[in-house]
Amino acid sequence: MTEVNENTALLGTSPTKSRFRLKAKTRKIMIATFVLFALAALLFQISDSSTVPHTKPKSDNKKNVIFFVTDGMGPASLSLARSFRQYKYDLPMNDTLFLDHYLIGSSRTRSSDSLVTDSAAGATAFSCALKSYNGAIGVDPFNAPCGTILEGAKLNGYMTGLVVTTRITDATPASFSAHADFRIQEDLIALHQLGNYPLGRMVDLMIGGGRTHYYSGKSRYGPSGTRKDNRNLIDEAINNGWQYVGSRSEFDSLKLGHNVSLPLLGLLADYDIPFDLDRSHSKYPSLEEQTITALNALSAATKNSDKGFFLLVEGSRIDHAGHQNDPAAQVREVLAFDRAFKAAVEFAENSDVETILISTSDHETGGLVTARQVTDDYPEYLWYPQVLDNAQHSGEYLQMKILNYDGNNKKEFVAKEVLKNDLNITDYTENDLHELVTLADGSKLQEKLNDMVSVRAQVGWTTHGHSAVDVNIYAFANKQETWLDILKNLQGNHENTEIGSFMARYMGIDLVKVTGLINETDHSAGINVKEINRVDLYDKYHHKLLNLRND
Ligand SMILES: *[C@@H]1O[C@H](CO)[C@@H](O)[C@H](O)[C@H]1NC(C)=O
Ligand SMILES: *[C@@H]1O[C@H](CO)[C@@H](O)[C@H](O)[C@H]1NC(C)=O
Ligand SMILES: *[C@@H]1O[C@H](CO)[C@@H](O)[C@H](O)[C@H]1NC(C)=O
Ligand SMILES: *[C@@H]1O[C@H](CO)[C@@H](O)[C@H](O)[C@H]1NC(C)=O
Ligand SMILES: [Zn+2]
Repeated sequence: MTEVNENTALLGTSPTKSRFRLKAKTRKIMIATFVLFALAALLFQISDSSTVPHTKPKSDNKKNVIFFVTDGMGPASLSLARSFRQYKYDLPMNDTLFLDHYLIGSSRTRSSDSLVTDSAAGATAFSCALKSYNGAIGVDPFNAPCGTILEGAKLNGYMTGLVVTTRITDATPASFSAHADFRIQEDLIALHQLGNYPLGRMVDLMIGGGRTHYYSGKSRYGPSGTRKDNRNLIDEAINNGWQYVGSRSEFDSLKLGHNVSLPLLGLLADYDIPFDLDRSHSKYPSLEEQTITALNALSAATKNSDKGFFLLVEGSRIDHAGHQNDPAAQVREVLAFDRAFKAAVEFAENSDVETILISTSDHETGGLVTARQVTDDYPEYLWYPQVLDNAQHSGEYLQMKILNYDGNNKKEFVAKEVLKNDLNITDYTENDLHELVTLADGSKLQEKLNDMVSVRAQVGWTTHGHSAVDVNIYAFANKQETWLDILKNLQGNHENTEIGSFMARYMGIDLVKVTGLINETDHSAGINVKEINRVDLYDKYHHKLLNLRND
């Protein structure tokens, strides 16, 4: 079987490569130590009852693959969320996240053109199993469309799905289902996702936000579509046989996947689904509900097939909380993801189809540290989870609440309604209050609010962007041999592309062959490279904060 090899020439700038020579003896000792560790880890994994496969799947060919991306979740996010959960629910110090039981390794995340990746190159490493440049959506470093594991799965007879909490046209889901030179070509990405490219429709189910790139102007689906070509892709999709759901009540009519007709287009917000911390349960489903719905629908649709399904589930907005340096929003995003992952493990445990789950992050965001020096004195060894528990809303939500205030005592409103009621912060200075009342720029206001929370929690951030720290790999399989196969390939420290290669091989996908079928894809539409500025390239929605939320 052929696979797209990681183009090592592209990594030729890597400063660590081959200059480092160890003495033979030292090398032998290191190798022996490594083997011992690997064996110990293998035995530990096998004896840990929570990860031992329980079920006995029937078929040898029928497989389900559920791939999870925790966008922007680094190791510190897990530590933060774990301690927060212990504090909030009064749990013992040995209590862990559900995800913690499934840790098998870590992933290196650099892209072809930078030591710090963005989500587009990060996701393309998983989807095409190759390193590409920051901003690349399912294209290689020379802008040539590369076959993805979602396309390969569909061509091999699998059903396919995408579940996210941000725009369905955003970098991670796009890199599996579209081919574009730059992530900002979201109008084009929406077209590909519905099948307007050489392969035709490859996606059977989409649930997330991002309705705005599916229609133009005002329509019955929403007030402000942003497509520049005046098309209404939602109407077109419905005419082509898609079931469309655009609201919580329509989502509820899907009966958690038991009343779905595929293909399904679920666009539940114009942009992002709100942070779990801010989410109105009557307006938006949780990531767990979205995931269960997708699993049930895909499972039912493949019931009589000898092929299973490939599903991507993204905890998309862990990344946004990282960009915004908002620890209170981030811990809730991580916990919401943990519940979705748990639901999928339970699904796999109860399925008689061979099912694997792999979960990893594309990169870390925010340079988060679970400690922060807040005075000139020698720092205390602690951080305060109760400060995050006190926060009833994200900075993103609260800056809007302040900016939308139209009464005549803003100072009292901010002091009482925001600082006291929403954040339970009472030790602010007159200067803090003055800033919150007078700042007119939403992103500055958000920055101020999130900093007030972070400083009090003694949680540190080093960037509003991404970092190069390694991220964790988690896995589960409901069949012993498959589980050992995963460990053999992904235990320890790996390049992100190896995760894509593993899934391709597991589903019997020849990515080179898929690449050969899509060379005529229009991947450059709607873009004038000279007009793009560097920041917009990465994320035009979350660097410039827009007043876009619709709840
Ligand atoms: C956690 O600690 C408690 C005692 O505080 C103990 O009873 C329990 O078995 C421990 N659980 C694990 C998973 O180690
Ligand atoms: C099932 O879905 C159909 C639309 O596809 C809807 O008319 C019906 O009300 C749904 N059933 C339930 C029980 O919600
Ligand atoms: C506000 O914070 C204080 C100090 O941490 C705490 O004692 C109090 O219970 C909190 N109030 C609410 C409503 O959570
Ligand atoms: C795409 O590949 C086919 C078959 O190899 C070839 O005939 C065609 O010229 C290629 N098109 C482009 C645009 O490279
Ligand atoms: Zn990001």
